[in-house]
Amino acid sequence: MKIFVTRKIPVKGLQLLKKHHTIIINEKNRPLSKEEIIQGLKGKQGLLCLLNDTIDKEVIQSNPSLRMIANCAVGYNNIDVEAATKQKVLVSNTPGVLTDTTAELTWSLILSVARKIPASDQFSRSGHFNGWDPMLLLGLDLKNKTLGIIGAGRIGTAVALKSLGFGMKILYADHKKNEQIENCCNATLVSLEHLLQHADVISIHVPLTDTTHHLIGINQFKLMKKSAIFINTSRGPVVDESALIDALEEKWIYGAGLDVYEYEPEIPESLKNCDNVVLLPHIGSATIETRTKMAVMAAENLLAGLNGTQPKNCVNPEVLL
Ligand code: GLV
Repeated sequence: MKIFVTRKIPVKGLQLLKKHHTIIINEKNRPLSKEEIIQGLKGKQGLLCLLNDTIDKEVIQSNPSLRMIANCAVGYNNIDVEAATKQKVLVSNTPGVLTDTTAELTWSLILSVARKIPASDQFSRSGHFNGWDPMLLLGLDLKNKTLGIIGAGRIGTAVALKSLGFGMKILYADHKKNEQIENCCNATLVSLEHLLQHADVISIHVPLTDTTHHLIGINQFKLMKKSAIFINTSRGPVVDESALIDALEEKWIYGAGLDVYEYEPEIPESLKNCDNVVLLPHIGSATIETRTKMAVMAAENLLAGLNGTQPKNCVNPEVLL
């Protein structure tokens, strides 16, 4: 069968696919437009795509021979799963393999904001370090502070588990109780409002859906402590970015660490101008090991689906019923 791969991914995943099928890879070193994806997908049975590829109804319906879409990401808000299911196209994602990697990146952001790491690095490089200064680049401690986890799924739980060494109290907000986070971290399930009012570090780990779009907006930022650190490594549109910019500019909160943006890859100039935010280019899962595991997992899912069996990480198994 023929597979369209929208971008070069780690070679192990490609090798796996090549063993069984013909693969056509986008060789351009940039994301493809919707039109280019439709063109590339013509006559293919399989699609291996990335989180920044828009795989909507139009793309799916453009190819009646399509049988399987393997997203090389855990989040799959870029794919219209309903349209895929209607057309009997299987969809898979890559959960689990990037959990700790994303949690580690979340902690990198927490520490970077709390201790002003990027500004300190810039200060040192630019020749401003003239000797130890009792008032230089003072940040915030984490010990005995409260970490608030919004969304205690795999990644949210891993972020909480990694807090144990920092001696923090944990609150979490979720629609259901999570025994692991309660037993391992002594975490307490609270309402979102309670969490926003009491947490010193707030980290969000929900998928982007219709119900989580703009989950955090002006009212939510206004509930936070003036000393709060806000972290987003999930999806940009979960946060109302203009409200976040107000919160940073008006110092309603201490600072923020972001790996994702509402209109990614666009980052507003006003956000870049804030000195209390650390900005990363969506690198949550970006380690050599994890990106290889994701590529292999996506390829294995695709092989299973094209073979007529249920992929391990299928998000619409009802297609096979
Ligand atoms: C990364 O953001 C992913 O969803 O895998």
